[in-house]
Amino acid sequence: MKQNIILDKNSIENLLSISESIHNISDIDILLDKILFELRKFTNAEGGTIFLFDDGVLKIRYIQNEILFKNNPAAKYKYLDKTIPINKESIAGSCALNSKIIMVKDVYNIKEDCNCGFNKSFDEMTGYRTKSVIAVPLKTTGNKLIGVIQLINARNKDGKIIPFTEKDKLYITYFANDAAIAIEKAQNTRSMILKMLKMVEYRDPKETGGHVNRMGTYAIEIYHEWAKQRGFPEELIRRFNDKLKIAAMLHDTGKIAISDEILKKPDKLTDDELKIMKMHTVYGYRLFKDADSEIENMAADIALNHHEKWDGSGYPGIIEDIEKISFIENKQGKKGTEIPLTARIVALADVYDALSSKRIYKEPWSEDKVLDYIKQNSGKHFDPEIVDCFFSIYDTIKEIKTKISE
Ligand SMILES: [Fe+2]
Ligand SMILES: [Fe+2]
Repeated sequence: MKQNIILDKNSIENLLSISESIHNISDIDILLDKILFELRKFTNAEGGTIFLFDDGVLKIRYIQNEILFKNNPAAKYKYLDKTIPINKESIAGSCALNSKIIMVKDVYNIKEDCNCGFNKSFDEMTGYRTKSVIAVPLKTTGNKLIGVIQLINARNKDGKIIPFTEKDKLYITYFANDAAIAIEKAQNTRSMILKMLKMVEYRDPKETGGHVNRMGTYAIEIYHEWAKQRGFPEELIRRFNDKLKIAAMLHDTGKIAISDEILKKPDKLTDDELKIMKMHTVYGYRLFKDADSEIENMAADIALNHHEKWDGSGYPGIIEDIEKISFIENKQGKKGTEIPLTARIVALADVYDALSSKRIYKEPWSEDKVLDYIKQNSGKHFDPEIVDCFFSIYDTIKEIKTKISE
């Protein structure tokens, strides 16, 4: 007879507190990271993947693997956006097809567990050996299926790979329902932000979706490194990055208030035009300031300060009456740590992306030339500590650059 499995008090309390925290996350990538992290913690699983539906297939939207990515955190970006069809050929595909949980003890000996195959391509590509798997459909309200969470290789206390348990299944089922709703909400937020950014892009074709997406991702990786070096706990870093990713993406939104005459002028701007162009920092600030949301307040800070330079040669500097001005005077900029950390990070992420990508008016610079420029400007344009963090995670930066295209 089937044993009745119930969750203990600790697990239920855990579920409730995680549920609250995931509903407070705004950025979709940070949310998926948190969901996988929590589920892997509960099941002691080595790895996990979140697939979301995209054009009739399942697309890898987030992946974690303690063993594979331990010494190579950049590698996780390699697998993003890979797709698998929704059919019986794979465990996740079959889970989506039938909208049912699948548990497999050993994927290389699958027959008794489910009526599905195992897609070996990931193992073959990485040399990793998958054994136990649980795949759970992500359903939002109204039973709408939006994707699949898959965890691999549960371990016992000694680190030996074991099958997932009925208790794991119950926990993940509760969690997945909640997670799916949070994911849908974060997808809606992302979609609204992308529309805002599209508006900026219509006005200024230099600010493409690819550019803002890449630079937002560079920014959170740089902050992660900066905070890790200072011993900040992962949870705190995750929460900060949730805001930083979105706020960084909005750095140039103030450009919508600059006239076409100046914004789209093909020739060099005159001194007076430049003073007006520089106002995009202030317009962005005015758009987001004094909001109730922490993301908007961070966006206001970044918009205002992303053209400041470490040595004080940037703009707009300290402004007395920020509500009244209509052009930016040439004067002393803010210096060093007068510039908020977020803006110091965004300054580097923004310039790196602008130099290393193709834009309508220029070809990308060579890698050597870009890196040379950044080194030369450490302590001038850029905060030297941020430059050091950038170089410590340069492998990751490169992966992001190839992964997120226009
Ligand atoms: Fe800007
Ligand atoms: Fe930019």
